[in-house]
Amino acid sequence: MDREVFQEQFGLIGTSNAIRQVVDKIMQVSRTDITVLLQGESGVGKDVTARAIHGMSERKHNDLVIVNCGAIPEGIIESELFGHEKGAFTGANDSRQGYFEKANGGTIFLDEIGDTPKNVQVKLLRVLENGEFFRVGSSKVQTTDVRVIAATNLDLWQLVKDGTFREDLYYRLDTVQIHLPPLRERQDDIIPIFRKFVQDFSARYDSVFKGFSDEARELLISYRWPGNIRELRNIAEQLVVLEKSQFIDKERLQKYLKGRQHEGSADNLPMVADQSSSSGDNANSDFDRRDRELVYRALVELRNDIGDVKQMLGNFLYSTLSNKNVKALPPAVRDEVTNLAGNLNIDLGNQASLGMKSMPHHDEDDDEPEIIQHDETDLSHFLDNDEIPSIEETEQFLIRRALEKYDGNRRKASETLGISERTLYRKLDQYGLD
Ligand SMILES: Nc1ncnc2c1ncn2[C@@H]1O[C@H](COP(=O)(O)OP(=O)(O)O)[C@@H](O)[C@H]1O
Ligand SMILES: [Mg+2]
Repeated sequence: MDREVFQEQFGLIGTSNAIRQVVDKIMQVSRTDITVLLQGESGVGKDVTARAIHGMSERKHNDLVIVNCGAIPEGIIESELFGHEKGAFTGANDSRQGYFEKANGGTIFLDEIGDTPKNVQVKLLRVLENGEFFRVGSSKVQTTDVRVIAATNLDLWQLVKDGTFREDLYYRLDTVQIHLPPLRERQDDIIPIFRKFVQDFSARYDSVFKGFSDEARELLISYRWPGNIRELRNIAEQLVVLEKSQFIDKERLQKYLKGRQHEGSADNLPMVADQSSSSGDNANSDFDRRDRELVYRALVELRNDIGDVKQMLGNFLYSTLSNKNVKALPPAVRDEVTNLAGNLNIDLGNQASLGMKSMPHHDEDDDEPEIIQHDETDLSHFLDNDEIPSIEETEQFLIRRALEKYDGNRRKASETLGISERTLYRKLDQYGLD
C-alpha cells in the first residue's frame, strides 16, 4: 500500500519529515509480530498509530484489545490482564478471561505501560517472552498468541533509573520504538490537520467553512499546542460550533487559544464580564462568578458526542436558570445558549426560553421554598442559596471533578486529591459513585 493511501485510510495526516518517518516505520513493522513501543506526549497520535499497525497486520480480522494500564486500579490489574479462576479472591464468583486471552490471535495495546505496578511487570515480561501466563488463582499455565503494542507518555528509561520500571521489561519492549514528536516540532502538519478537522466538523454540524486569514494561520503555527493534535481537534470543533461567521480570523482564533497558553491557569480562561455585583457583597459573588465561568467554559468545550452536548446543555441551562443571577449573564452568552440549542435541535421543553417562568428558579422576593432535584455532586445549588455544603458533599464534588479531569484515571485523581488510591476506592463505594 502506498503511503498516501495508508495515511488516508488510518487518518494520519501530515507531510512533515517527522510524520513521514513515523509512517514508514509503522508500515515496516505492521506486517510482522514484533513488539512496538510508542512514545510521545499525550495527544500526538499513539492510539491512531496502534490502530494503524493492527489494521495493516495479518491479525486485523481478530481483535485489537486496548488496555489502559494507568486507569486500572492496582488491586485488580493482574486479574484484568490475565483473568482469574472462580474463588480466586472475594467476589470472584466465576472464572473470567483476561485481556491477554481475549486478544488471542489479535493484538493487545497496552497504553500507559509506565503506570503498571511492578509485581505485574514481571508477569508481562513472561507473557511477552513466551506467551505464557497464569490466571489469578490458578497454577495451570496458559498460552496466548498476541502481538503487543505498548505506549507511554513517560520517559521509560527514567522510570528504570528511578526503580519503578523493570529494566528487563524495558529492553523487551524496546525492540522497535516509534517516537511520535509533539505537534510543535512538526509545524508543517498543523495547517493540513487543522483544515481536515474543520472540514469534517463543518460537515458534521452542517456549517460551511470559508477558510482562515493569514494571521490566523500564523497563530496556529506558532502556538505551542501543549495538548497536541487532540487540542487542535477540540479547537477546530469549537470554532465550527461556536463561531458562526465561518471565516476564521486571528481575533476569533485567539479567543480559543488564549485560555490555553498556561494550562491550568483559570486566569486565562475566556471570561464572562462580571455583571453580578448587584448580587451582593459577600463571598458568594465570588462563587457566582466562578459558577458562570464554569457555565461558559462548558459552553466552549462542547464535546463530539451530540448526546453529551445535549446533557451538558441541559445541565448548565438548569443551573443557570436556578441561579438568581441569571439576569446578570451577558446577553451574548444567553443568546449563544438559545441559538446553540436551536442549531443542535435540542429539545429544551419548557426550558426553551431563557426568559421563562416555568423552570424552577429563585425569585429574590419569593420566600416559598422550592423543591428542586439536585445531583448530590453538583454544588451549584449552594451558590444560589447562601448555604454551606457539607464536607461530604464537597468531597463528592471534588472526587467527581478529579476523575473527570483525568478521564476516570483513579490513580491520578487520588494523587491530585492527596489521598491514597485505596481511600479513593472506599469513598467511591461509600458515596455510590462510579
Ligand atoms: N497525524 C494525525 N492526523 C490527524 N489526526 C490525528 C493524527 N494523529 C492523531 N490524530 C487525532 O488526534 C487525537 C489524539 O490522538 P490519539 O491517538 O488519541 O493520541 P494519544 O493516544 O497519543 O494521546 C485523535 O482524535 C486522533 O484521531
Ligand atoms: Mg491515547
